[in-house]
Amino acid sequence: MTIDKSRFRIFFANWISIIGLLIVCFGTLLGTVLMIVDVSGGMHNPYAGLIIYMGIPAFVLLGVGLMLLGAFLTIRKRRKIGHETPLPAVDFNDPKVLRRFIISCVLALAFITATGMGGYHAFHFTESVEFCGEICHEVMEPEYVAYQNSPHANVSCAHCHIGPGAEWFVKAKLSGLYQVYSVLFDKYHRPIETPIHNLRPAKETCNECHWPRKFFGSVLRSWTYYLPNETSEPWTIKMLMKVGGGDPAYGPVGGIHWHINEDVEIDYVSMDGKREEIPWIRVKGRDGKVTIYEDKKNKLSEEELSAMHKRRMDCIDCHNRPTHRIMSPNKVMDTAMTRGLIDEKFTDIRIIGMDLLVEEYKTQAEAFKAIDEGLRDEYEGEDGLEGLIAQIKTIYRNNFFPEMKVDWRSYPDHIGHKITAGCFRCHDDKHVSKDGKKISRDCNLCHTIIAQGPGEAKDVHQISSGGLEFKHPEDIDGEWKEGKCDECHEGVPM
Ligand code: HEC
Ligand code: HEC
Ligand code: HEC
Ligand code: HEC
Ligand code: HEC
Ligand code: HEC
Repeated sequence: MTIDKSRFRIFFANWISIIGLLIVCFGTLLGTVLMIVDVSGGMHNPYAGLIIYMGIPAFVLLGVGLMLLGAFLTIRKRRKIGHETPLPAVDFNDPKVLRRFIISCVLALAFITATGMGGYHAFHFTESVEFCGEICHEVMEPEYVAYQNSPHANVSCAHCHIGPGAEWFVKAKLSGLYQVYSVLFDKYHRPIETPIHNLRPAKETCNECHWPRKFFGSVLRSWTYYLPNETSEPWTIKMLMKVGGGDPAYGPVGGIHWHINEDVEIDYVSMDGKREEIPWIRVKGRDGKVTIYEDKKNKLSEEELSAMHKRRMDCIDCHNRPTHRIMSPNKVMDTAMTRGLIDEKFTDIRIIGMDLLVEEYKTQAEAFKAIDEGLRDEYEGEDGLEGLIAQIKTIYRNNFFPEMKVDWRSYPDHIGHKITAGCFRCHDDKHVSKDGKKISRDCNLCHTIIAQGPGEAKDVHQISSGGLEFKHPEDIDGEWKEGKCDECHEGVPM
């Protein structure tokens, strides 16, 4: 028997199926051409990816759906009026049928290849920095902008947020669907909440590039501050950070990275899951000994404790802002002055600049207008004013996001202890074990000050290998010895 043309066509000879077929042909052709242009590097717009790898495939699927719908309606109609519609039979002895069969196979293969390639690129596209950072431009702006200015600017978002393997890929796509919903219906928080409770354990992401064995020794860090007096006098502190290590084969074990030693387990609970107030810590040391430290002022009862989530400490408990660094006004102004981006000849620029930055604005445009006017009022006619305005705007753009209600206060950075509690969340001499051991806040536990005093980094060299006692740049009667630094320091001048 030969293929019954009339019968085969019967299924699809209706307007719905024909429109469907046209959509499939047009979509496949357009998608293939655009994909070739995209893969050969011709497109740089994130929305192009959205259209090629999501819009067009959805369009083609719609076409296929219409074709089938048309066929289904036809069969139903024919059944109703009593027509039999058996499926067409195929006879390969008929050369015409064979030819048609081969042509159909080739077309089907081309279609499958195109969709396969499309699928592959769709996968890469949804993992790309453009997709994560640029599509939902307004929502992701703070994270994306800070990321671009960070040491990880060449590491993709997916490296830290998804990592390798199928399980997390699926989880990420599912939570991605929810995120699309919350953006479409404006259900997301401004600012986006932190910490991310279901972030993949750092061991499976950060360790792809930084594995604990690699850490050893100390690293030199230097800070220059411009004191809030009339002359903006610089003051520099240089210290060796005792980063330490986790593997005896590579150097002494201990120091700051002791916490992530393979044989050390640290679990803790935090109030409201925010990881900022930590009343209870359990340490299993390298020798297997378990020690529990409790905050003397905030003791939890057994019931409270058993109801709370215990978090295993990892990289993110200190490096929670390895890449989304949004800096305080103090720090951005100091950094810009240290780098010579802001000229100190503008009198009081540190304070005036900061005042303009921290003002409450509703939009970036409003802020830019105020910065423009504020600086012109102050420094009209001075040389280099245009450059100064551009610089302060850049600082604003990189660290303040009024549309998302984000600035340095939204995302406390746990490294250090000056403007957030950071290490002092535990290291405050107030977390004590049953046998009286404290988690120490000894100024030499984590770093050794090797030089400090007035002047910029190039001028301050009192190098002392034994370490210097900290000298607080402003005389505050030794209050820094007892109080937490962040009780006074908030990132803006006092
Ligand atoms: C080097 C690793 C790394 C890279 C690369 C990275 N992130 Fe993150 N991201 C983090 C960490 C760590 C957090 C904070 C986790 C926490 O505190 O729970 C975070 C938090 C976030 C948050 C939650 C809000 C916040 O600021 O805490 C968003 C949104 C986000 N990242 C988006 C992105 C986007 C978009 C990209 C790419 C443009 C990206 N991330 C690249 C590590 C990374
Ligand atoms: C795909 C590789 C990759 C991944 C994944 C990665 N990093 Fe990095 N990280 C880098 C590179 C590259 C640098 C820059 C190295 C340099 O400048 O010496 C860096 C630098 C750093 C630094 C030093 C930053 C500085 O200011 O000098 C820290 C801290 C850091 N990463 C922490 C993390 C944490 C925490 C994670 C996981 C959330 C992570 N990294 C994930 C590649 C990676
Ligand atoms: C107890 C807090 C803490 C934990 C946990 C921690 N780090 Fe660090 N790490 C630090 C501090 C502090 C520094 C010193 C650098 C600084 O002052 O910015 C540092 C330095 C680094 C550096 C830069 C080293 C260099 O030579 O410049 C990298 C990279 C890094 N850490 C990655 C990691 C990774 C990956 C993990 C998890 C496996 C981790 N850290 C866990 C506190 C921590
Ligand atoms: C969740 C609580 C917690 C946080 C947060 C924390 N630590 Fe610790 N740290 C501990 C505990 C517990 C010990 C061990 C105390 C003991 O038993 O002597 C310790 C010990 C140390 C040691 C001594 C390690 C050794 O060689 O024996 C250093 C250095 C250190 N921490 C640095 C830091 C730094 C730097 C930060 C902030 C970036 C930090 N810690 C944040 C809990 C914490
Ligand atoms: C538990 C570890 C730890 C202890 C204890 C500690 N520090 Fe620090 N300190 C750090 C870390 C980590 C940083 C680096 C922050 C960074 O990389 O931005 C830091 C940074 C600093 C800075 C530069 C601050 C900045 O951000 O501008 C000063 C000053 C300082 N420490 C002084 C002290 C003094 C004084 C003490 C004793 C009261 C002390 N530290 C105790 C871990 C510690
Ligand atoms: C009782 C309040 C108080 C405490 C506690 C305190 N400081 Fe300060 N600090 C000041 C004042 C006031 C200044 C003067 C500069 C200013 O107004 O910003 C200052 C200035 C500084 C400066 C130089 C200027 C700048 O950019 O901030 C550093 C560095 C500093 N403090 C570090 C610390 C550290 C580290 C600690 C904790 C160990 C600490 N301070 C604790 C009040 C305090």
